[in-house]
Amino acid sequence: MGIIDVISLRKFFPFRRRVFAKQEWLRAVDGVTFSVRDGAVLALVGESGSGKSTVARLVLRLIRPTSGEILFRGTNIQALRGDSLREFRKSVQIIFQDPFASLNPRMTVFDTVSEPLKIHKLCRKEEMKDRVVQLLMSVGLSSDILSHYPHQFSGGQRQRICIARSLAVSPRVLVADEPLSALDVSIQAQILNILQDLQRRSHISFLFISHDLRVVHYFSDEVAVMCLGKIVERAPTNQLFETPLHPYTEELLASAPKLKREPRKRAIVKGDVPSPVDMPPGCSFHPRCPKRFDPCDRFVPELKERDGRLVACHLYR
Ligand SMILES: Nc1ncnc2c1ncn2[C@@H]1O[C@H](COP(=O)(O)OP(=O)(O)OP(=O)(O)O)[C@@H](O)[C@H]1O
Ligand code: SF4
Ligand SMILES: [Mg+2]
Repeated sequence: MGIIDVISLRKFFPFRRRVFAKQEWLRAVDGVTFSVRDGAVLALVGESGSGKSTVARLVLRLIRPTSGEILFRGTNIQALRGDSLREFRKSVQIIFQDPFASLNPRMTVFDTVSEPLKIHKLCRKEEMKDRVVQLLMSVGLSSDILSHYPHQFSGGQRQRICIARSLAVSPRVLVADEPLSALDVSIQAQILNILQDLQRRSHISFLFISHDLRVVHYFSDEVAVMCLGKIVERAPTNQLFETPLHPYTEELLASAPKLKREPRKRAIVKGDVPSPVDMPPGCSFHPRCPKRFDPCDRFVPELKERDGRLVACHLYR
């Protein structure tokens, strides 16, 4: 059991092809199972539209699943009420991609970082300033910015303020949805170091979503690869990068920049991504898979164990 356990999770969104057409379902997340181990980093990777952010919103209880369960320390989060829900809201925090959009432009740094302390009554008034300064220092910011506003900072500094705010409630899990991708490349490493420091020193667990496979390789303990709403491979990070089993993972890794000098970019598999509203039959990767063979366009491969790892592909039967 992990600190977060996700079991057979599904999220379908209703849609219509035309105004009076019948309602259909877009299968954004389609039967996903994984655990975030206590103190560990689980990375979710996959192309745009594969369902990563939808998983993040489900885990944060921002949206309700169509079916399946999300357990926080063994309890279904949909069943949480009152104090236990407040405890969950404190324990599981988010770091967004765009630090500007997630800060209120009319609130000073002090107001922003102290707000969760006030809401959750975590700090006496006379100790508030010291606590805010301590939080800012933990993300490498100094105390002389307390009365400044978001527009006075760079993107990297704003992301540090967002992280300090998330840390105010002493979370156990941080859900980080592309926390680096809006930042300059030169700043990304600094923010990544802060996150790594938090994970090591404060034993915070991460559900870490990123398009940048080099960052995932560096930071995560385990990787779950998503393709059109499904996990197609799950493995410890080093094993996944050394010997990817699933052809989709192979293609993702092959498209990622290898050299340190190469600019960071999104890993993209060749060929058109099928629309999640017109899912191909069988393995959803088959129209683009260089290794497809007879059963691939007819039967959906299940996620099965192979050498202590999990892979959903007919090549491994
Ligand atoms: N509220 C919604 N209503 C309808 N469809 C949605 C909604 N949210 C997401 N989707 C669809 O669900 C699918 C998965 O979206 P999601 O944002 O989870 O992908 P993602 O992996 O995070 O992509 P990206 O890497 O671009 O952020 C997409 O096809 C998206 O259009
Ligand atoms: S099941 Fe077939 S099409 Fe799908 S990834 Fe495996 S080999 Fe390719
Ligand atoms: Mg997303």
